[in-house]
Amino acid sequence: MSLKLSTNKASKGLRGSIRVPGDKSMSHRSVMFSSLATGTSNITGLLEGEDVLATLAAFRAMGVEAQGPDNGKLTIEGVGMRGLSAPESDLDMGNSGTAMRLMCGILAAQNFASKLVGDESLSSRPMRRVTVPLTSMGARCATDEDGCPPIHIRGVESLEPIDYKLPMASAQVKSAVLLAGLYADGETSVTEPAPTRDHTERMLKAYGYECETEKNNEKSSTIRLRGGGSLTATDIDIPSDISSAAFFMVAASIVPDSQITLEHVCINPTRTGVIDILKAMGADIKLLNVRAVGGEPVADIKVTYVGLKGCDIDPNLVPLAIDEFPVICIAAACAEGVTTVSGAEELRAKESDRIAVMVEGLRSVGVEVEERRDGMVVTGGVIEGGEVQSHHDHRIAMSFAIAGGVSSNSVVINGAETVATSFPNFVDLASEAGLSIEAV
Ligand code: S3P
Repeated sequence: MSLKLSTNKASKGLRGSIRVPGDKSMSHRSVMFSSLATGTSNITGLLEGEDVLATLAAFRAMGVEAQGPDNGKLTIEGVGMRGLSAPESDLDMGNSGTAMRLMCGILAAQNFASKLVGDESLSSRPMRRVTVPLTSMGARCATDEDGCPPIHIRGVESLEPIDYKLPMASAQVKSAVLLAGLYADGETSVTEPAPTRDHTERMLKAYGYECETEKNNEKSSTIRLRGGGSLTATDIDIPSDISSAAFFMVAASIVPDSQITLEHVCINPTRTGVIDILKAMGADIKLLNVRAVGGEPVADIKVTYVGLKGCDIDPNLVPLAIDEFPVICIAAACAEGVTTVSGAEELRAKESDRIAVMVEGLRSVGVEVEERRDGMVVTGGVIEGGEVQSHHDHRIAMSFAIAGGVSSNSVVINGAETVATSFPNFVDLASEAGLSIEAV
């Protein structure tokens, strides 16, 4: 199936109060941990996007029973740390790097062999970043010759603990090693060079597993856990995904006369870089009703239109806003002056090469942009409109849909069906908020 979207100048500003779907990172982890736990877990607020459904299908294929998902509600009967059974066929992780990389950590220690496959985009993403540390723990796993999927895993009874220094700031790699560490004979530690999202650590604790984080300096931390424990089923309420809310934060910041409230959004400090970046560009963003939900901070985010100004984005904010750069580039294209993105080479290893693909897309809609190895320089001005390709990347598709909210002519996005991976009701919510968007 292929979907083409077309957006054009919103007739008026974006208005109202909307709740975007549940957090993707937390949804994946809730399915994984509930499956491996002892007892019954009730999940609410689950993101029913294709990525999370792929994770759920994989656990069902390994003998886990689950009721739902229905309206974000999912009940999982945990099978315990050692209770998974061999799948009859390949485990298809679809478009999801998170699903594939975290699953490697879990599957490395099961008493059966498995093969992880993915779609065209996932099949060209780097996987040695997980198979290398897992192999040093004694796992038997291999990528294809290019270091990409499929991944073949032969489970081993027990893994050896390691002290692993992450070569890049990656929550997926950190999590894969920690999950394998659950099955290791002793203490495993992972040192991250810069803060990355810590949902694995927080959620392990929610499922009763001890996991310690020690700060080494301003940027780096070490996370430690001991293998051999067990997870206890729990009820978990997943707040909205700030990465999905970000599309509307930018939309309300660039479409004149907008004021929008995004309800119940997870504002975990390892995820709020997009707020800091937009504020540095002059955006009016307020956090209301800050509260704690299931071990995570949550708020309603109110965004009111004011014109944005270009800025040099602080490279320290990159890991804290890693998924939001496509839409931040749209904000930059609408800002007065020049915006520089640097220290962001990891963007090239996402669902698409997000530096190259954003540069191509921005040029197609008439924006002046210079590509750099580790980022880009965007000159703000008028977005003329035109046709762009999603390159199987949901966030590219949604970012250009937002650009259509201010473009002189329509923006047409090819391959927009990919939005279903993380934000299945994007088109409905965007229209409800006032964006003029249609499938063509
Ligand atoms: C994720 C981590 C991030 C992010 C991805 C989800 C996770 O990747 O881009 O969408 O759930 O752990 P990194 O591995 O680069 O941190």
